[in-house]
Amino acid sequence: SRDIRSQLLEINKLAAVYYFHQLRGQNGSTAMNYLKKRELGDETIQRFGLGYSSMYSDDLYRYIKSKGYKDDILKESGLFTYGDGKVTDKFWNRVMFPIMDMNNRVIGFGGRVMGDGKPKYLNSPETKLFDKSRNLYGLNIARTSRKPNIIICEGYMDVISLHQAGFNQAVASLGTALTSGQASLMKRYTDQVLITYDSDGAGVKAALRAIPILKEAGLTTKVINMKPYKDPDEFIKGLGAEAFQERIDKAQNSFMYEISAMEQNYDLTDPDSKTRFFNEVAGRIVGFEEELERNNYIEAVADKYMVSMDALKAMVGNYGNRVG
Ligand code: UTP
Ligand code: MN
Ligand code: MN
Ligand code: MN
Ligand code: MN
Repeated sequence: SRDIRSQLLEINKLAAVYYFHQLRGQNGSTAMNYLKKRELGDETIQRFGLGYSSMYSDDLYRYIKSKGYKDDILKESGLFTYGDGKVTDKFWNRVMFPIMDMNNRVIGFGGRVMGDGKPKYLNSPETKLFDKSRNLYGLNIARTSRKPNIIICEGYMDVISLHQAGFNQAVASLGTALTSGQASLMKRYTDQVLITYDSDGAGVKAALRAIPILKEAGLTTKVINMKPYKDPDEFIKGLGAEAFQERIDKAQNSFMYEISAMEQNYDLTDPDSKTRFFNEVAGRIVGFEEELERNNYIEAVADKYMVSMDALKAMVGNYGNRVG
């Protein structure tokens, strides 16, 4: 029989086209209205191949079966649920987001409920085609954007809104923690990554976890603040593309971002706590190999917290001695 991967690619392609037509058909009007309500234009909907999985719970299954595919390969596609003698579509009554690999081939899907149901997004499982740790949503477009950076955000709608606003260098890691595989993927196309995760606690934690991974891959990293909005999609809707560009221009150096997060564990109005904070900062600065880089960070931290550069420099200089 033919290669499993190429059969899975065909099945995903058939499913994507099917969902796409469902969205355009008479049953797709609720989904289309949902996308319009989220301010997506026709061109954007087209470009990302958005679709709709119908209300009927085995529509796709019957369609793909009619094309002659056998259950053993359909099982591997992750598009169906096999129960006791009954097969149903994994996705139904959801807005569908095809996930493309770098060569624009559909390798999986995300599906969003149109109301407040749970889960908000359902995603394809990992399959022989879909390795979540080695793909980024939107990279198939971002890789050709010729922008000086890649913007990494959390979700499908963030990527799509950003692209629609002209930031076609946006990608998403889709709710999973950023992996080193994804970082090296980005490194093929850029030297600078701008993190634009959600402004909630989970987003901050995810950014702090991503920074060392990006750094390890040799990427210069900055962090863009979305406050007072929750995520890039809401920010663009609230303040527009120009304001987002201003946030890019003011993106924070990732080390300074880490320091700001660290600061939350200390009380800078207390001299003792303040000293311990700067000691921790000094310990981090020691980690930079180049003296020039250490000095630049000593200056930046001294400026930010209005402390003496010489004192901080001495602390950095002494750090190795005291600990080692
Ligand atoms: P968010 O909860 O921030 O959702 O999850 P969102 O992207 O802002 O979605 P909208 O704007 O309400 O439509 C960020 C990403 O995490 C993944 C999805 O990839 C989502 O885009 N996620 C989230 C899931 O896979 N499942 C979920 O139930 C929720
Ligand atoms: Mn989130
Ligand atoms: Mn979000
Ligand atoms: Mn959102
Ligand atoms: Mn200065």
